[in-house]
Amino acid sequence: MEGPQFSRTRRRFSGAAGLLWPLLAACLWAAVVGYKPVIIVHGLFDSSEDFKTLKRFINESHPGTNVTVIDLFDRGASLEPMWKQVAGFKAAIYPIMQNAADGVHFICYSQGGLVCRGILSTLPDHNVHSFISLSAPQAGQYGDTDYLKYLFPQFVKANLYHLCYTAIGQRVSICNYWNDPHHRDLYVNSSDYLALINSERTNPNSTGQRRLD
Ligand SMILES: *[C@@H]1O[C@H](CO)[C@@H](O)[C@H](O)[C@H]1NC(C)=O
Ligand SMILES: *[C@@H]1O[C@H](CO)[C@@H](O)[C@H](O)[C@H]1NC(C)=O
Ligand SMILES: *[C@@H]1O[C@H](CO)[C@@H](O)[C@H](O)[C@H]1NC(C)=O
Ligand SMILES: *[C@@H]1O[C@H](CO)[C@@H](O)[C@H](O)[C@H]1NC(C)=O
Repeated sequence: MEGPQFSRTRRRFSGAAGLLWPLLAACLWAAVVGYKPVIIVHGLFDSSEDFKTLKRFINESHPGTNVTVIDLFDRGASLEPMWKQVAGFKAAIYPIMQNAADGVHFICYSQGGLVCRGILSTLPDHNVHSFISLSAPQAGQYGDTDYLKYLFPQFVKANLYHLCYTAIGQRVSICNYWNDPHHRDLYVNSSDYLALINSERTNPNSTGQRRLD
C-alpha cells in the first residue's frame, strides 16, 4: 500500500513542479541578477492608480522587480508648487533608496519627470541608476493644452505669463515650469523651479549636478 501512495505523491509533486519551476527560476533569476527596484512618479492630475498597466508590464517582463508607484499629490494636489512636491516625493523615495544597495530606477511621467529632476539635483547621495523621463516637459511648457483651458479659462498661452510670472502664479506647479519664449528675462527672473534646475538662475539649494552614469 505504501508503494502506490508514494508514487502518487511523486506524480503530484512532479505535476506541481512543472508549474513551480519556471516561477521559482524567475524568482531566483531576479534574486541573482537583482533587478533594481523601480520607482514611478506620476504626472499632472494622475494618481498611482493610473500605473497598474505599466506595473503589470514590468512584473511580466522582469518578474520579481519591486515596483513602487508613489501615492502622493494625486489629482488636484498635483498642482501644488513643484518644490513642495519634490520634498514630499523625496521623503517617500529616500527610504526605498536606502534599502536598495545596488540602486534604483526612476520612471517619471510628464510633470513627474520634472519632479524627479528636482529630486536628483537636491539629493546628494541618491542612488538612481537609470532615470527614464517619460513624456516630460523638460524644457518647460508653452502651449494651449486642454489642461490649460481648464485651469486658466481666461488665459491663452500668449498672456499666461502675466499670471505665471508672479509670486501667486508660482504657487501653481504648471507656472513653475511655464516657459514663455517671448518673455525670457521675466521667465529667468520669476520661475522658481525650471529656471533653477536648468541653472538659468542660481539655485541656492542645488547640491551640484550629479552625473547619471
Ligand atoms: C507578478 O506576476 C506574478 C506571476 O504572474 C504574480 O503572481 C504576481 O501577483 C504579480 N505581482 C504583481 C505585483 O503584479
Ligand atoms: C518593495 O519595496 C518597498 C519599499 O522599499 C518595501 O516596503 C517592500 O517591503 C518591498 N517589497 C518586497 C516584496 O521586497
Ligand atoms: C530681471 O532681473 C534683472 C536683474 O535683477 C533686471 O535687471 C531685469 O530688468 C529683470 N528683467 C525683467 C524682465 O524683469
Ligand atoms: C531652499 O531650501 C530652503 C530651506 O529648506 C527652502 O525654504 C527654500 O524654499 C528652498 N528654495 C528653493 C528654491 O528650493
